[in-house]
Amino acid sequence: MPNIDNPTSKPLSALGVTQSEQVAQLFADVRARFEAEIIRAQDEANWNITKVMWLGRKSGVLTQITDNWLKPATPELKRAVGASLNELRAHVEARIEARRIAIESGAEETTLARERVDLSLPGVIHPIGSHHLIRQVLQELEDIFFSIGFSIVEGPEIETPYYNFEALNIPEFHPVRDDMDTFYIDLPKGAATPLLLRTHTSPMQIRTMEKQKPPVRVIVPGKVYRRDNPDATHSFMFHQVEGLAVDTDITFCDFTGTIEYFVKQFFGSGVKTRFRPSYFPFTEPSVEFDVSCIFCGGSGNAVGGGVCSKCKGAGWIELFGAGMVDPAVYGFVNYDAKKVSGFAFGMGIDRLAMLKYGIDDIQVFFQNDVRFLRQFP
Ligand code: FA5
Repeated sequence: MPNIDNPTSKPLSALGVTQSEQVAQLFADVRARFEAEIIRAQDEANWNITKVMWLGRKSGVLTQITDNWLKPATPELKRAVGASLNELRAHVEARIEARRIAIESGAEETTLARERVDLSLPGVIHPIGSHHLIRQVLQELEDIFFSIGFSIVEGPEIETPYYNFEALNIPEFHPVRDDMDTFYIDLPKGAATPLLLRTHTSPMQIRTMEKQKPPVRVIVPGKVYRRDNPDATHSFMFHQVEGLAVDTDITFCDFTGTIEYFVKQFFGSGVKTRFRPSYFPFTEPSVEFDVSCIFCGGSGNAVGGGVCSKCKGAGWIELFGAGMVDPAVYGFVNYDAKKVSGFAFGMGIDRLAMLKYGIDDIQVFFQNDVRFLRQFP
């Protein structure tokens, strides 16, 4: 057979083929070429190219053979060419289809292998955080007061002077305002009323009594702000829990009983407590409530000698202010001061946490050092 590059583009006469044996050899060569090409079709893209190259209607190899070999073949060769062409077509079509199936199942296997889940691999471990100690203490306080019938309400951290001061019986220019110097919000000129970051949770006494008639028994946890210089027991932002109970027959005994129950539940029976007379414009009488200093055992002396720096030698640490609600306050919320009475208190949650867990610097609560936080999982 003549050695030419593409025999199918030429008629048999140009290839010098005149005998049916030559036809058989010619088809054997074409078939060998097809085999070499179909083996290289290992993916979908190459398979498509091979298919078009061999079965393409316009210029595929089989069309070329039909046009160039079969149609112009001499009557002597036509039968042999036709038979060989049919055989070649059947072979090519079968092999191309078989290749398609092989490629598709191969691709599927590759995908499956890629997506297979290895159940023996260890999972991705996401470290789980924990509640901040202040949040934990708050939760504990809420549980204790909840168990004796108090409900929990929350209020705004940005307040008007009316709720923060005036309705609590602290008129403008009252000296007690000096103790609660705070942060006022910059407002546009002509704003109806100044706004400030609340200095205590007590404004919620007023907001609660405005909303509901007695009996009232609520606690109000939240953040408060004061322009206090930071030290071991002071922060410019800290947390308080306000308590308020008002009804027709509440006495100072109910107040002390409630507080003693709370202290026993929270600190255990080991700590000593005391009330001291104090002054708040919105309670009368007013008290401060102290617990014995847990750092020096109430002695006032530091372990290594000298004065205990936490209680400053007093042996007591102030926990909160409280008292019986001043009748003047009822006037601001339309309660009849002759018919109702009640008590209120405002505790510093941060200080409670410090005492309970022996923490000697309030600032660690706000520094977010995980070495500290991890100690209270
Ligand atoms: C008040 O804030 C009153 N509203 C409490 C009150 C409520 C009295 C209801 C009567 C009736 P005082 O300023 O003492 O009171 O603050 C209460 C507690 O907040 C303190 O005992 C202390 O535990 C805590 N505290 C006060 N200032 C700071 C501060 N700068 N940093 C951390 N804790 C503070």
